[in-house]
Order: sequence, then C-alpha cells, then structure tokens
Amino acid sequence: MWNFQPSVNLVKGGAGYVGGPTMAVIADHCPNLQITVDDSNRDNIKQWNSPSIKNLPFFETGLEEIILRVRNKNLYFSSNVNETIINSDMIFLCVNTSKKNKGFGVGQASDLKWVESCARQVSSYSKGHTFVIEKSTLPVRTAESIKTILNSSNLVEKNHKTFSVLSNPEFLSEGPAINDFNKPDRVLIGVEEKKPIEALENIILKWIPNQKIIKTNLWSIELSKLTANAFLAQRISSINSIAEFCKSTGGNMGEVVNAIGTDQRIGADFLSACLGFRGSCFKKDISNLVCLSIHFVLSEVAEYWNCVIKLNEWQKLRISKLIVHNLFGTLRGKSITILGFAFKANTNDTIQSAAIDISKNLLEEGANLIIHDPKVSEDQIFSELAIKLRKLKNIQDSNTYKGAGIKENNLNKSFVNVYEILILTEWGIYKKINWKTVEKIIRKRCWFFDIRSIVDLKEIKNTNLNFWKIGDGIIKS
Ligand code: UDX
Repeated sequence: MWNFQPSVNLVKGGAGYVGGPTMAVIADHCPNLQITVDDSNRDNIKQWNSPSIKNLPFFETGLEEIILRVRNKNLYFSSNVNETIINSDMIFLCVNTSKKNKGFGVGQASDLKWVESCARQVSSYSKGHTFVIEKSTLPVRTAESIKTILNSSNLVEKNHKTFSVLSNPEFLSEGPAINDFNKPDRVLIGVEEKKPIEALENIILKWIPNQKIIKTNLWSIELSKLTANAFLAQRISSINSIAEFCKSTGGNMGEVVNAIGTDQRIGADFLSACLGFRGSCFKKDISNLVCLSIHFVLSEVAEYWNCVIKLNEWQKLRISKLIVHNLFGTLRGKSITILGFAFKANTNDTIQSAAIDISKNLLEEGANLIIHDPKVSEDQIFSELAIKLRKLKNIQDSNTYKGAGIKENNLNKSFVNVYEILILTEWGIYKKINWKTVEKIIRKRCWFFDIRSIVDLKEIKNTNLNFWKIGDGIIKS
C-alpha cells in the first residue's frame, strides 16, 4: 500500500479558473484533507486571501459561499510553492497551457513551459512518494514528458523519491464550474499502473458515485479530453455554417435546431448559432489535434480540424462586415452600443472573447463604442483593447480614436443617441430590457443585432428598431 497521508497540495500557476474552483470543491467535500493552492503570482494569491469575499480573482456562481466555508480551515492559498511541495503527497498540475506565441508550432502547439517548470520543482522539492496529477488539458503523451522530468533530478535516486503520474482532466465550463464539478456526467482517471488510482479515487468517491468514474490508460484519457472539446466546437461551427443560409432557403433557424436537436443521436446541446466559439479551450484543443495530425503525417485529418477553426474565424468577420454594411458602409463618428464583453454569460473572463475582435473591427472603421458588461471591469476592457489600439495608432492618427471604447455601467445611459446596438454576450439582464423605453433614447431607425439570439421577437415588433437576429437574418427593417 502507498503510505498516503491526507495532505493534498497544488503547485504554481494553480490558482486560476481550473485550480481555484476545483480545489475549493475538493476541500468542501473532504474536510480531512489539508489543501494548499499555490501560485507564483502574488497578486492573484492576495486576491484569494482578501478579507473581502468580493475580491476573489474571478466570478463563478457559488464560489464565494464555498470559499467562506473552507478558507483557512482546510484550504489555504500561498505563493510559497517550494514549501508546499515539500509537504505534499499529491500534487495537481493546473497550469496555463496557452498556445505558443513564437518558435516551432507558433499559434498552434501548446506552450508547455509552465508544465515543465512545475515538474522540475516537484522533482527537486518533493519527498517520498508523490502523486502528480495532470488537470490542465495537455497534448497527448505529455504525461510521459512529465514522468521523465520528475525522474531527472540528481536528488531523486539519492533521496529515494518516487512518483505516480495520473491524468484527471477537468471538463468544467466557466460560469457553471462549481455545479459541473459537483455533478459531472463522468470523471476520467488515466494511469499507467492500476494501483495509484485508488489514492485519487478515494477522494472523488466522497461525492461522486463509483459508476461515474471511468478508468483507462493515460493516453486514452489525454486524447479523450482533446476529442471532447473538438467535438463540441465542431458542432458550433457546423450549426454556424447552416445559420448562414437558413433564412435564404426559407428555413427558420429555431425550427431547424429543434428538429435536429430532438433526434437522440444528435442531442440538443451546443447547437446555438453564434459568433463562434470563444474561451480558452476549444481553439487551443483543436489546434493541438491539428499538430498531432501533422506529426503523424495525416494531412487530410489536419485539414478537417483546421476547417472547424477557419469557419469560426469566418463567422466573426462576416458579422463585423454586416454591422458596417447596415450603416451605409461607414462608421466614422457613429456611436455603437456593445452589450456584453465576456466570452459568454456568467463569467468575467474575456479570453478570446468575440467582443474583442468585433470592437477592434468597428474601431478600425472609426466607430465610437459604448461597452456595457455586468461583470467585466473597465480596466479589463481597456487592457484587452489597448493592444489593438496601440497597433491601430501605428497606422493611423491616434486622435481618430479619441472617445472610442467607453465603458458604461448604467445600462440605460449606454443607449443614448446610438446608431447600432449589438448583443455579444447572453447575460440575463439583456433579456429583460424594455425596448419600448430604449426606443426613446436611441437614434431613429437604429439597427439592433441580436447575435446571441436571446431577445423575444414580440418585444421588438412594436418598436421602430431595425432588427437582425443570428440564424434568421434581417427580421424587421
Ligand atoms: C469548454 C468546455 O465546455 C469544457 O468542458 C472544457 O473543460 C473547457 O472548455 P468553456 O470554454 O468554459 O468550456 O465554455 P463553453 O460553455 O463550452 O462555451 C465555449 C464557447 O462556445 C463560448 O464562446 C460559447 O458562447 C460558445 N457556444 C457554446 C456557442 O456558440 N454555441 C453553443 O451552442 C454553445
């Protein structure tokens, strides 16, 4: 038997969207475990430890309540990574694996620098036997590299250190992350030898029934995680491709989705036509599949998955062009309201949000933007757009952009005198807007683009708004 002590810790880079909520839920279900969430980013740890619960680094439904229950009881946040490793029996790697921004595989392959540096730290500072668990989505066979790195330190043999590497990927989606983790469809555990599974399984069994735990070899699990995300993303690109010609053929998008979604073999989820999938996972994971296909000289397979990404980019560009086209091909000096900046509702994450690209396109056309989002801060919006603005300033006079990109917290004020309104994030509050009232403060014949398909047509019918809806095209003009 493994001499397994109830002390679970998490290493550097761990206090992000996956590490923070995951460890909070484990701590909540397993009061016997002492859990430390480590991150070398001191500001991030400061926010997790902030006496005001409203200062957590990000918003997740139900997270604040859990943190209040477990923080400083059996869940700790620290930036003293090495000390945490010394005291750990089990280490979850929840590190950032964003795409490489230079070198071989730029823009496609995952950057594994954090995985490598974490593995080296664990190799140097761990004691006795340590379970190392991959939580981040990683390219297939990363566990093999982790194992090699873990065993590479000179101290390993001298100090009789041993390691078991397991894969236990996370399927939580931002927004409902806590619920996803409390009630997952299934939990995957991959390992080379059977025995080490017990240590992790005993933790998971505290709140998840045995029949939901799927155990296989490491490589199947690593591949399953990429495949699950690629299949979900592929459904979105497929439905977006149909949305484009639905109206012109006389079809109705909602009816088509209902008709195919009720076929059990297809299912109803991930069929909402939209601006395309955003967030940190889908594009990265498909790019990983493309890299894998190229590595195994499967060019047609690489091309197939690349098309899913291409269609996603095309969707965004197509809608940007439509927005410009409807205002006579010019946006110079015109005010446009953007409702929603997060990449989806119920999160303040803006990673790869479509709002960034759309805003950039509209700013380039000379528009003034008024941006509203209930959870994304002004600083965050400006820092996302600043990169683009700086680039734009290189090619045009910076004065052109004076006044562009105002963050407006008051929803009603954000409509004053505007030419166009775009819903880019499906926040609940936008479903409750009284369009009859809004009509009084916008410009006459204002265009309204419901890109998330959330507004009830009945609410719009009695207004003077020109109305365009994803999948259905122009409904009223
Ligand atoms: C995703 C996976 O769902 C999760 O299992 C994995 O662990 C991480 O990646 P997340 O990125 O948080 O989670 O968001 P998700 O809800 O899956 O949405 C991804 C993108 O697809 C969003 O931009 C969303 O707006 C878009 N989407 C989703 C659609 O355009 N249409 C849909 O029908 C569903």
